[in-house]
Amino acid sequence: MKRVTKAILPVAGLGTRFLPATKAIPKEMLTVVDKPLIQYVIEEAAEAGITEIILVTHSSKGSIENHFDKNYELESELKAKGKNDRLKLLEDILPKGVKIISVRQPEALGLGHAILCAKPVLADDEPFAVMLPDVLMYHPQQGCLAQMMEVYTENKTSTIALEAVAEQDVEKYGIAGVKLINTGLKITQLVEKPTIDKAPSNLSVVGRYIFTPRLMPLLKRTKKGLGEEIQLTDAMDKLLEEESMFGFEFIDGKSYDCGDKLGYLKANVEYALRDKKLSSSFKDYLADITNTN
Ligand code: G1P
Repeated sequence: MKRVTKAILPVAGLGTRFLPATKAIPKEMLTVVDKPLIQYVIEEAAEAGITEIILVTHSSKGSIENHFDKNYELESELKAKGKNDRLKLLEDILPKGVKIISVRQPEALGLGHAILCAKPVLADDEPFAVMLPDVLMYHPQQGCLAQMMEVYTENKTSTIALEAVAEQDVEKYGIAGVKLINTGLKITQLVEKPTIDKAPSNLSVVGRYIFTPRLMPLLKRTKKGLGEEIQLTDAMDKLLEEESMFGFEFIDGKSYDCGDKLGYLKANVEYALRDKKLSSSFKDYLADITNTN
């Protein structure tokens, strides 16, 4: 089995759930404390051994590429002023050894279609990761994708991150049917945003995936599904007819759905509470306003 070195990050979506904030700013560039969402996700990718990030992007999303590119003017200004700590922040934006490639998704035909747009930059026999940048995966020790790589290496099958959600939330996510076997959580079924009565479980697909090369040809054949979009979940469900797939339950970390306003606010509060420099004064501030309100 080939090593996974490429991760596809679909960023072409227009982020209409977050208007007006995302009118001129890509939703992936919204900040959590002091870094844009996508920077956290690329750090998680790098920790898992990913060396190439494939952005599937849109003409309005140029600031994402700019963020990870060099800005000579800013760097030389900081250098001239001796502001080395700030210079270091810039140098650390793109993890060492990671390259970014962009491909365009010409039409908004769904997540499955976005992933298919990256096919030309993958070899036919190449496994790959998919990371949805509006989902932040906090983990105190080892990132979610790095942990999934271990499951992938052991089982040599596609591996997807799962997290239990409240019953009323199953219709917001891809939901997996699973069977517990001695090598882990074997996926038996995948349904995109089912109603409660059609949901095979309450285990949601959280936005981190590792796929064998077989997924791409199946995606190519996938017809429009829910919402008249080409759904990644539908191609994954087809993959189950040919290969095994395992779930990685993300239990000892925490995910934040930052495509949702409440999820985004929770991420900001909790990441600020974990930030060494901010946490103490932020805690005092929160205690203060919760007492007075
Ligand atoms: C997408 C996927 C869904 C997955 C979710 C995770 O949905 O289609 O299967 O559970 O991301 O965030 P979206 O949030 O783009 O509607």
